[in-house]
Amino acid sequence: MHHFSYQDSILHCEEVSLEEIARQHGTPTYVYSAATMADNYRRLANSLSGLDVQLCFAMKANSNLAVLRHFANLGAAFDLVSSGELKRALAAGGNPQACVFAGVGKTEAEIKFALETGVYGFHVESEPELARINRIAGQLGCKAPIAIRINPDVDAKTHAKITTGKSDNKFGIPLKFAKAAYAAAAKYPHLQIKGVQMHIGSQLTTVAPFVEAVKKVLPFVEQLKRTYGITYFSIGGGIGIVYQDALASGAASWWSPRRKAKKPLTPEVYGAALQPLLAPLGLKILLEPGRNLVGNAGVLLSRVEYLKRGSGKNFLVLDAAMNDLVRPAMYEAYHEVVPVTRQRGRRSLKADIVGPICESGDCFAKDRVLPEAREGETMAFMSAGAYGYAMASRYNTRGMPAEVMVSGRTFELVNARESFETMIAGEKIPSFLKA
Ligand code: LLP
Repeated sequence: MHHFSYQDSILHCEEVSLEEIARQHGTPTYVYSAATMADNYRRLANSLSGLDVQLCFAMKANSNLAVLRHFANLGAAFDLVSSGELKRALAAGGNPQACVFAGVGKTEAEIKFALETGVYGFHVESEPELARINRIAGQLGCKAPIAIRINPDVDAKTHAKITTGKSDNKFGIPLKFAKAAYAAAAKYPHLQIKGVQMHIGSQLTTVAPFVEAVKKVLPFVEQLKRTYGITYFSIGGGIGIVYQDALASGAASWWSPRRKAKKPLTPEVYGAALQPLLAPLGLKILLEPGRNLVGNAGVLLSRVEYLKRGSGKNFLVLDAAMNDLVRPAMYEAYHEVVPVTRQRGRRSLKADIVGPICESGDCFAKDRVLPEAREGETMAFMSAGAYGYAMASRYNTRGMPAEVMVSGRTFELVNARESFETMIAGEKIPSFLKA
């Protein structure tokens, strides 16, 4: 369920025309629906009813301050992976003391900052990290709350670059070594063993791998509760969303035969499968959803620059590029691309949808069938709210895109398009290079 639909032939986000946003703020621009985010949040939070659940939004998916504030207002804490993200949580008015700090490479400065700020738990990924956190906590005269990330060696059956719970991934401590890691942690005077964590991968479209992983670690989690009195179990994020036919449920792709919308893994199915496994533990359950809360809540608006007819191939050249939305280039990810204004009776066109960047990888879709698009026309990339802006770059000296948030009939710019001056603000020509 999302709040993007055609109203009088124009794609709207809630009650706002996306043509209007493109007119006011230009393109490429990300647009987020506050209502979709709130719905996603509530559905997931309610899916494990009866349990003491805390959602920690994985802000790596979308760390815009407005998005963070919105989730903080809904009751979310955050899953952080850098001191930059912790600073964002603070800037957005989030409560750092409910946040968890993950990542395989926490630096000394980051650990110190997180201890000074106070976080709910460090999600520790290795034994050397335990030693480092203990030492820094000792220097500060405090005890660091920790949970060890267990790698359950379960195949999440997702893209290789976003699977994390297999033994050949860099993440976590294998289940068979986890007992020793906890025993080591217990000996450190400046660590407080508080919980246990796992995360098996991202964009999971079935519940089976989650169930398998939870079942696999349950006996160990029970043992940790008995031995160390742990109070929480974080089961990570990873719930996937629908990318293909992302609009089909709200408004069928009118230019192609009506296809049945792909069935998403719903929070309700996820919750119903996990609730009976987790309830007997009597622990606080943390979830770290990223994509599931924001993925379908955002689109990327772009304009058509050219329709280039090649030999045996058409290219729809947009003003958005792989620097704005890298997922197709990086993971061969599929994003639905739709015209913001629909006109019936248009011829259909088969084309590669590409950006202006000077490499062949700057391609959003190959041989995609669309209604024939015209120069200047606004297009929308669906399901771009997660890992969209957050992974954008300035490649080819293209400034970071703008971001807009919609709520009902109102919308506001929540991040201005980056100017050339801001882009080069930190650069300097050294004194030894003469003009
Ligand atoms: N918790 C941990 C420890 C994680 O590493 C991640 C994601 C999450 C939670 C949130 O996962 P989610 O609920 O969003 O699936 N850039 C890739 C996705 C990378 C995910 C990295 N870790 C993409 O665009 O598909």
